Amino acid sequence: MGGDPIQVPFYFLIYLLSLLIVVLLLIQIAKIILFYHHRKPVASTAQTPPGSLGFPFIGETIQFLSANNSTKGFYDFVLSRRLRHGKCFKTNIFGDTHVFLSGSTECAKAVLGSDFVNFNKRYLRSIAQLIGEHSLLLSATQEQHRFLRSSLGTNLGSTSFISSFIKQFDESIINTLADWAQRDTNVIVFEEALKITFKAMCKMIFSLDDADGELVDMLCKEVGIVCEAMLAFPLKLPGTRFYNGLKARKRFMDEIKKIIKERRTKTATKETQHCYQDLLQSLIPGSLSDDASNHTQVMNMSAAQIQDNILTMIIAGQVTTASAMTWMVKYLDENQDLQDVLRDQQIKLAPPGSSPLTLENLNEMSLASKVVKETLRMVSIVPWLPRVALKDTHIEGFIIKKGWMVNIDAKSIHLDSAVYNDATRFNPSRFDVSRVVQFAFWYNSPPLLNSLWTPGFKQLFYHVKQEHHLLMPYSFLAFGTGGRTCLGMNLAKSMMIVFLHRLITTYRWEVIDSDPNLEK
Ligand code: HEM
Repeated sequence: MGGDPIQVPFYFLIYLLSLLIVVLLLIQIAKIILFYHHRKPVASTAQTPPGSLGFPFIGETIQFLSANNSTKGFYDFVLSRRLRHGKCFKTNIFGDTHVFLSGSTECAKAVLGSDFVNFNKRYLRSIAQLIGEHSLLLSATQEQHRFLRSSLGTNLGSTSFISSFIKQFDESIINTLADWAQRDTNVIVFEEALKITFKAMCKMIFSLDDADGELVDMLCKEVGIVCEAMLAFPLKLPGTRFYNGLKARKRFMDEIKKIIKERRTKTATKETQHCYQDLLQSLIPGSLSDDASNHTQVMNMSAAQIQDNILTMIIAGQVTTASAMTWMVKYLDENQDLQDVLRDQQIKLAPPGSSPLTLENLNEMSLASKVVKETLRMVSIVPWLPRVALKDTHIEGFIIKKGWMVNIDAKSIHLDSAVYNDATRFNPSRFDVSRVVQFAFWYNSPPLLNSLWTPGFKQLFYHVKQEHHLLMPYSFLAFGTGGRTCLGMNLAKSMMIVFLHRLITTYRWEVIDSDPNLEK
């Protein structure tokens, strides 16, 4: 067959070539899309928080301990590092990596809101040895924590228990203040407050009173030594503070065992069961909960659990409440106008010489309870809340590794001007309930607000916005939050109000040494 070869026009070749290029391009794009779609997760680029882990083994323990021994207190350790590294930083204390998270209610929510899931409570190992492995504070599992908390809380949460506690505490405060007034010497408020709260705890836990003065003094001394050892270097050598603390724990436990043994014998004979309305009685097997509305057999705690948790209660409740009372006296001294208003109100509610205070009286004392709350906010007796990370977690853009301690800096939240207006001013009225209602109204009515958005209303809105914390979760952490909320919260608040009421309605005082440097 002859003839001319088929002529392919040049432009057709160009066309084919372009088509090929487009197809190749499409294939490449598809590959890229598929690659990104099915790619394996790449390792996170998140960094660990900034901060120094100090020297090998000891980390920054020495700096931590020396801050604790200075007048500025151990919070200064956190503050100075926060200024250097920012709101989230890491350090190493007693061999553990600690991360501190400051000034964020969101972080507080992320950590405290996931107790037993991503985090769990954890104290320094030395503290665990001093308070005992069966302590509620150290419960490893949620089940164990629930069991101990409900066993201990059956009485502490009951109205009848708190009512009878208030009556006894009121009597004791009246006598103590009368004793202060008769003295020729000055009163060192914190020292005296420690005695007041220790006596109150002994009465509440095992009905020890003035007749048992010697035993109470001895127990108080031992607990003091245990507390001192809690933040000491954990060296178990004779003569060290830590060693002395462990010895004091043993002596304390020996006495507690005797008290428990005696009570068990009395309970077994059923002779005196209803004479005791204290915490110990509710923990002894075979006894009944004292709450008339809840006559249920309580779950049995082991002897070791009872002992460790009695010590836990005293340690958790004595110094904390005594410090809070002391700071309250200081703040009232610095705010004389408020003191006068409060005195007038308290006298109207329960004049001096009237019958013992009741729970109902206390519930009516709204300004006094705001003074208590504001004191707790300003001071943050428990400045940070410690947890341990149960798994690798991301917070604030940083990676927190499993096993690291994470501390929520409650004090920084309490003093955050974005959360509390004029945060460093002592202003109990910031907790006015009427303001909460007012704020809730404006906050929930944006269309109405928009239509009324005049300068005057802007001013009003700005004012109520300052009360934002009243509705903001995780902004008041003085007693912790969630399932780990302070078990003695109501007792502590009652003690503070009774003390405040009797002091302010019966006496006038002058602060001789207010020690402005004191930050502990
Ligand atoms: C003004 C006084 C007090 C303050 C500021 C205070 C503060 C706190 C805080 C912040 C927590 C939570 C810690 C955390 O989540 O890591 C806590 C827990 C606890 N508090 Fe208090 N407390 C006070 C008085 C008391 C009293 C009087 C008692 C005992 C009668 C007590 C017993 C406890 C116990 C047993 C826990 C552990 C609760 C748990 O882990 O489930 N506290 N306290």
